[in-house]
Amino acid sequence: MTGHITGRNLVASYPAPGGGILPALGPVSFDVAPGEFVCLLGPSGCGKSTLIRILGGLQLPSQGQAFLDGSLITQPSPQVALMFQESNLMPWRTVLQNIALPLELKGVEKVERMEAARHLLPGLGLGAEFADAYPGELSGGMAQRVALGRVLIQRPEVLLLDEPFGALDALTREQITLDLMQVWAAEQQTVIMVTHNINEAILLADRILVFSQRPGRIIANIPVTLPRPRRIDDSYSDAFGQVAQQVRAAVRQAHPVMG
Ligand SMILES: Nc1ncnc2c1ncn2[C@@H]1O[C@H](COP(=O)(O)OP(=O)(O)OP(=O)(O)O)[C@@H](O)[C@H]1O
Ligand SMILES: [Mg+2]
Repeated sequence: MTGHITGRNLVASYPAPGGGILPALGPVSFDVAPGEFVCLLGPSGCGKSTLIRILGGLQLPSQGQAFLDGSLITQPSPQVALMFQESNLMPWRTVLQNIALPLELKGVEKVERMEAARHLLPGLGLGAEFADAYPGELSGGMAQRVALGRVLIQRPEVLLLDEPFGALDALTREQITLDLMQVWAAEQQTVIMVTHNINEAILLADRILVFSQRPGRIIANIPVTLPRPRRIDDSYSDAFGQVAQQVRAAVRQAHPVMG
């Protein structure tokens, strides 16, 4: 199995607004095993998005190395798909055409790529009646489902998700989280997902990495061993509560001012 992600002493810094250097991340070192689902939690500005961009090959670290299956990551890879808070759909393309875009860029025949896109709709929780709708006709949740479809159609080995559901209302978010869990259960990609929601992280993850304030370092590595499949109701269980307590304690440590 492939999709093994490694970070070795990764550091990222930026030019500071007033001059000098702004340390944003690290040093951080970690391993994510093939097929593992890891959530990243940490204060705003601690470098989570920076880390996602480094792992996605969109940005080079200032120091250290990131590897995909032992190869240094220096540019985007077709095996790795990224998804962000904004769906970034093309407004002039239909749902199916948006989902099929990565295959179009690869030169896959129209009939074949549209069929592949149509095939994904039920798993994304999108009714067939929306196949020919335009993004302007979709709710925020539906747009993110389409964006997820555009990522999944590439059959990536690694999914890098940066607060993909951050802008959605709580109920939509819960439903789409469950759908993502099913997709992952079926495909077993490696997933690294940034979220600010502790319950969502526990529901989804095999392991949660908690980051300190900027420059973000990993201050806790919390395995989530709750049995799968997990359901929303599991979040009321004692076992879930115990993990939540452990995660909250680590998050409090990262936000000392909040006590
Ligand atoms: N392109 C950039 N140029 C300069 N500074 C940047 C750039 N991108 C990020 N930063 C700075 O680096 C730090 C980390 O930013 P980053 O977006 O990685 O944090 P984050 O953990 O994703 O935060 P949030 O939870 O708010 O999304 C911040 O202080 C930010 O201002
Ligand atoms: Mg961010």
